[in-house]
Amino acid sequence: MILTERLIRDHTLTRKEYEELLEKAGNQEIRARLAQEAVRLRKLYYGDKVFTRGLIEFSNYCKNNCYYCGIRCGNPNVKRYRLSQEEILDCCENGYGLGFRTFVLQGGEDPFYTDERMAEIVREIKTRYPDCALTLSIGERSYESYRILREAGADRYLLRHETADEAHYRKLHPENMTLDNRKRCLQDLKTLGYQVGAGFMVGSPGQTGAQLAEDLCFLEELQPEMVGIGPFIPHHDTPFAEAEAGSTDLTLFLLSVIRILLPKALLPATTALGTLDPKGREKGLLAGANVVMPNLSPVKNRKQYDLYDNKICTGEEAAECRQCLARRVESVGYRLVEERGDACLS
Ligand code: 5AD
Ligand code: FES
Repeated sequence: MILTERLIRDHTLTRKEYEELLEKAGNQEIRARLAQEAVRLRKLYYGDKVFTRGLIEFSNYCKNNCYYCGIRCGNPNVKRYRLSQEEILDCCENGYGLGFRTFVLQGGEDPFYTDERMAEIVREIKTRYPDCALTLSIGERSYESYRILREAGADRYLLRHETADEAHYRKLHPENMTLDNRKRCLQDLKTLGYQVGAGFMVGSPGQTGAQLAEDLCFLEELQPEMVGIGPFIPHHDTPFAEAEAGSTDLTLFLLSVIRILLPKALLPATTALGTLDPKGREKGLLAGANVVMPNLSPVKNRKQYDLYDNKICTGEEAAECRQCLARRVESVGYRLVEERGDACLS
């Protein structure tokens, strides 16, 4: 108990202490105490608001071969697609009408999207929707590339670090990828004035409590505006096809801990959490999350952006998901709002 109260008082623990705390993740009482404090903090800064981000998965081409991911370049069974600029703009139009004021352009690391092409899309969206925030989630790029896209008008960038532990990073990624470069990217994005989102998978194969403790220390150091965490879920066409999925409860526990560490953070209740548990997103909100990210991609492409098995919301129109989510959010006492949802500065 003492550790829990120390975290609540100081908003920080040492790596060893985080590790010790994580050993208690199965303890109902501790989980409830952390969730109670997490909810208190999110209410203090964000009231009963839940922000929504319209996710546009615009390309499932990827040059990387991460062992956990269904759209890795080594998977020959993926039907690859790219949305044209027109299609992307159609998604935004649809989303704007539905009340979205943040668009997230997410894709694999697709070399087709040069800085010029990407900047053009960013400029066009920001010209048409000046009252909306634009978030990019297109992986590792150079400082110069991030600079060009920032100048074109991108406001935010999501790049999960996936794991802050060197040894675990090596288990999840092929040799041509490095944790150092990942960290460099996050640092560059901060320097350029993006609102930055880091994050990691919970329960990826072989992950230990000590490694998760490292993730928490890394978040403390980086101080990102957003943190995306979700359970690992195996994909049948990857080297981790037979691996076990992460746990809902551990993910919820970590959401609460992260809310306490970074009280003003924007924390999504992720699709992966909703995939693993039918009430996962509601539980996420009750553990301290304050963002949901429904899909705005054309329904015809939804199933092709297949990061993990059984991904939810691949058959529903954006309008259906929006309504469904509004209901779910209300069922746990919050409300979905039509705002950009920037990080609280006060
Ligand atoms: N299970 C859960 N999350 C995954 N991601 C990729 N593959 C999986 C998987 N098998 C997550 C990664 C990535 C984000 C877009 O999706 O954390 O950053
Ligand atoms: Fe997509 Fe419920 S959020 S169907």
